[in-house]
Formats: sequence, C-alpha cells, structure tokens
Amino acid sequence: MKEIVVIGAGVNGLCAAVQLAEYYYGVASVTLISEDVSPATTGDGSAGLWGPYYCGKTPDHKIVKWSTATHVFFHQLWQNGLASRIGVSLQPCVRLTTDPDGYPEPSWKDIVYGCQKLSQTELDRLSYEHGRSYTGGYHFATFTCEPSGLLPYLFNRFVNVGGKFVQAKVQSIDSVLNNRKVDLIINCTGLGSLEMLGDKEVLPIRGQVARVFAPWIFEITLDDSDDGNYIIPNSETVILGGTHQMNDFNRNVSSTDSKFIFDGCERMLPSLKKAPKVKEWVGLRPGRNTVRLELEHYKAGKRTIPIIHNYGHGGCGVTLCWGCGTEVLHLSKGLGFHGDTKSKL
Ligand code: BEZ
Repeated sequence: MKEIVVIGAGVNGLCAAVQLAEYYYGVASVTLISEDVSPATTGDGSAGLWGPYYCGKTPDHKIVKWSTATHVFFHQLWQNGLASRIGVSLQPCVRLTTDPDGYPEPSWKDIVYGCQKLSQTELDRLSYEHGRSYTGGYHFATFTCEPSGLLPYLFNRFVNVGGKFVQAKVQSIDSVLNNRKVDLIINCTGLGSLEMLGDKEVLPIRGQVARVFAPWIFEITLDDSDDGNYIIPNSETVILGGTHQMNDFNRNVSSTDSKFIFDGCERMLPSLKKAPKVKEWVGLRPGRNTVRLELEHYKAGKRTIPIIHNYGHGGCGVTLCWGCGTEVLHLSKGLGFHGDTKSKL
C-alpha cells in the first residue's frame, strides 16, 4: 500500500485529501496531518464567497481553470440537497471599483451566471446610494459556500472513505519522513509554509471582518477599490469587510479597522445601522506572489521524495479549493500512482 501524507486541514488540504482518498481507495492510504482543524482554521471565519480576490500575479488561465472546477463543485453541492446542511447559496452579487481606470473585464466573467457590465446609469445610482464615485463594475450571480459547513463536510467525507487524521504541528518535511513510511507528501500548509519551508515569498494578508445579524440582506456587494468595503450574507449572519493589510501578523481586532468596516458598510447600506453585532474576527490570508501548485523532488539524505505543493492562495482559498485539489490528484497520477477502478466511488 502506498502512503500519502497531506499536511494542512484548511479548505485546500481537505479538498486535496478527499480527492486523493476517493481516487486511491484500496490502493493508497491517505493521512492528513494538521495542528489546526475546523473551526480553528483561517477559512472558518471567512464568508466563503466564490470570487477571485488577492491572488497575486497567479496567471489568469490557472485562476480560471481552478475556480471553474470549484464553481461546478459548489453547484453540485447546491443542487444535490446539501445547500442547507453545508450553507451553499446562489446569490446576486455586484463588484465595483472607484479606480480611475474602471473595472477591467474579469477573466472569470463566463464562470459566474449572467455577468453583465454595469451601465453608467447603474453606476450613477449605486454611487449615489453608497456615497461613492464608482467608475466601473459587474453584476452576476454566484455561490457562497460557508467554510464552517464545508470543512466538516469535507472532513467527514475524507474519514468515511478511510482517510486517517493525525492532529499535530508539522515542523519540517524531514520530521514527517522520519516518523513514518511516506511515498508522497502534499503540502497545503498555507501561511505555515513560511516557517516549515522557509518560503520567503509567503506573507500574511491580514483580514479583519465583522458578523452582524441582518436577515433582510440577500445580495453581495463588494467594492474592490483599495479603500472599499464588502457585505456578504451567510445563512445565519452577514459578513462585513474588510481589510487586506500586507505582511501584518496582528491577529487582534483593531478598533480603527472596526470603524472603517462599520462606517463603510453602513454608508453603503444604511439599514445595517440597526443590525446587532455578533462578532469581529481577524484571519491571516496566506499571501504569495503566485499560488504555488507544483511538484518538487525533495532530497532527504539518500532518498528523494515527491512533494506536491499547494499553498499561497491569498484571498482565493475557497474559490480555488476544489480545482487545486483536482490538480494535485492529476500531478500524483503522473507519478505512477494508480487508483483502483473497481472501487472508484
Ligand atoms: C476575503 O478574503 O476577504 C474575500 C475573499 C473572497 C471574496 C471577498 C472577500
């Protein structure tokens, strides 16, 4: 039996682990190792909006490929009766900017449903309503898939197909190799790759958000300008955002950021003034110049061990998760790991 180890139980680690465990059922054993598990991962606090956001200079064709697969996956969950259990909603969404160059045509416009460029009349109306000077934007329908429901769902799916879980902090690749027989490692440690690999390209993109109780809001509004805010409904609460401070490790809620979030969101949607506050939260997005999804042949003494890296998703962890997991599986097949076709689920 081949031994595959996936490090990291965030949304990307779990999507890779599920697809590997299902494909290699009966052929390879898949072990997931992670210190943090839901509800203590970075993804847990996020709104789970499908939408490319802060993914550095990752080429568009990769974003489109990985995010399309994730959009299809969310659609399947939504269609197959899992919408309320996981928290998958199809919602109208408007993305705007005040950038003098306007909103460039998004590479993802054909993935979401009914994407339309906003007319000048619509921009004027929204500018008036939000107290902003919008120069461009798009509206469409897309999914939110709440990590607080998605992560436990993926974890159960992994365990139900024989996946093993070990709760531990992984200090180094060598420590994994020294403690067990391993034929393939999948590194989905996100920000952890800064310490574990010493990858200096990895940096935290600090995100502070608030959750309020506002069950009358059924539309996503995202101002993509540098000083913009966003409003994203989830099933129990509405997420108000948000900050994106580069290389900032501060996990504490900042009152300056709270003011920016509440003032900005209430200016966009004044009815939020009467929304009871539920919680404020800070997460550190795993930023990188580009998402790293590639195979490395790692030298450990006399041995060489294949490692598939899958980290650095920035603000796109949820948006890219299923597609990146599929690519991990694809790379593993290239190494000569073969699934048992009899037992494919
Ligand atoms: C965020 O990380 O804050 C985010 C991600 C996707 C869409 C909107 C916001």
